[in-house]
Amino acid sequence: MPNAVVIGAQWGDEGKGKIVDILAEHADIVVRFQGGPNAGHTVVVGNDRIILHQIPSGILHAQKRCVIGNGVVLDIETLLAEIKELKLHGYFQNESALLISDAANLIMPYHKQIDVAREIKSGKNKIGTTGKGIGPAYEDKAARRGIRVIDIFNDAVFEHKLKTVLEEKNWYLREYLNENIFSLDEIIQRVLQVRASIQHYVTNTSVFLSEELKRGKSVLFEGAQGSMLDVDHGTYPFVTSSNTVAAQAAIGSGIGPQYLDCIIGIAKAYTTRVGEGPFPSELTDEVGSYLREKGGEYGATTGRPRRCGWFDLVAVNHSIRVNGITQLALTKLDVLSGLKTIKICTGYNCNNAVITHVSADVRVLDNCQPIYQELEGWSDNLNAFKTFASLPIAVRNYIDFIERQTGVPVTILSVGNRRDQVIIRKNPFKD
Ligand code: IMP
Repeated sequence: MPNAVVIGAQWGDEGKGKIVDILAEHADIVVRFQGGPNAGHTVVVGNDRIILHQIPSGILHAQKRCVIGNGVVLDIETLLAEIKELKLHGYFQNESALLISDAANLIMPYHKQIDVAREIKSGKNKIGTTGKGIGPAYEDKAARRGIRVIDIFNDAVFEHKLKTVLEEKNWYLREYLNENIFSLDEIIQRVLQVRASIQHYVTNTSVFLSEELKRGKSVLFEGAQGSMLDVDHGTYPFVTSSNTVAAQAAIGSGIGPQYLDCIIGIAKAYTTRVGEGPFPSELTDEVGSYLREKGGEYGATTGRPRRCGWFDLVAVNHSIRVNGITQLALTKLDVLSGLKTIKICTGYNCNNAVITHVSADVRVLDNCQPIYQELEGWSDNLNAFKTFASLPIAVRNYIDFIERQTGVPVTILSVGNRRDQVIIRKNPFKD
């Protein structure tokens, strides 16, 4: 059976949760391999609207195993809140459904405080982070002073590591950020209170996944954020702190890249972004507001209004290149209904030169003007359409145009919030 990686091809919030939920039906295991509770994957099942932050969206299917891989930065307290919420809604009734990597780094209370305080101190130069401690936790991982899941189960190791790191964190909090400091005991007590609740999920998930893959089980790797937020390939420094691209699925799960059979890029039929940073096809007019209201474009994690704009081929083609995307899923097509004409950004005009690649220099992206191709819109409500062939001609033209300009087939179309409001032209697990 094939394995598939699902990643965001824009700036996050592309609707990955829904597509993973649909595809999870055909996979055996779903893995999160990067990011942390900065993600907010929304899935609508019947009357339930579930937002998952750290647990893979596959958890909504009773028979699937879900893995939080070593590449994730894990916040135990928010994980337990998420588990409670899932159980309250009748999901996650089988404790063996979740496995947590013993090598994942933990988000500690000081990471969150540093994240928020730094943003305040940065003023107008802030990144616009989610405030969940993601950046500071990945910093500690790279600096080799992170606390990993395995560490909290050895009292002496945990205390020693925490004591060493806290000395530095408290100095930084007090002297540089003017913030309150943490006591060693307070953090130890907080961790002791929660560690028993997760112990039975913790294992070597690299070994688990490798064995399952060898047995022919199929794995769906669920990316978070989007490729334009990748720490290497995104609009640096206005990015998240992890690699969000498909290759990270191997690193962040502890398996070899030979298992990544197909790479599904999820792109919204228009573009959104939260936080600061360049966004060449942004619409600050009434069309932008129309998309925001009709598409419910408010952050699933922070509630912040999302910036909205036209579909940007330069950004999506960049994602196709850096991920190796083999097929695209286009989401929220229904939101575009009712617009007389629809624009697609095909290039950027920078100082009278046309560029079709994302520059590594954000100043270039900040100062360029989008070049648009205008296509005919459509007025039909798309929610009930079940096949590609039956879609209005203007919708098919829009998709054809994207396929021609990207050279990648659009195999999945989402035409509404619900699980069944989707048109699958090619299922990576079946066709
Ligand atoms: P951080 O990941 O909280 O450090 O935030 C860094 C940047 O990534 C900010 O612009 C956030 O708004 C953005 N970001 C982080 N997670 C998500 C997400 O799940 N969807 C969309 N944007 C995100």
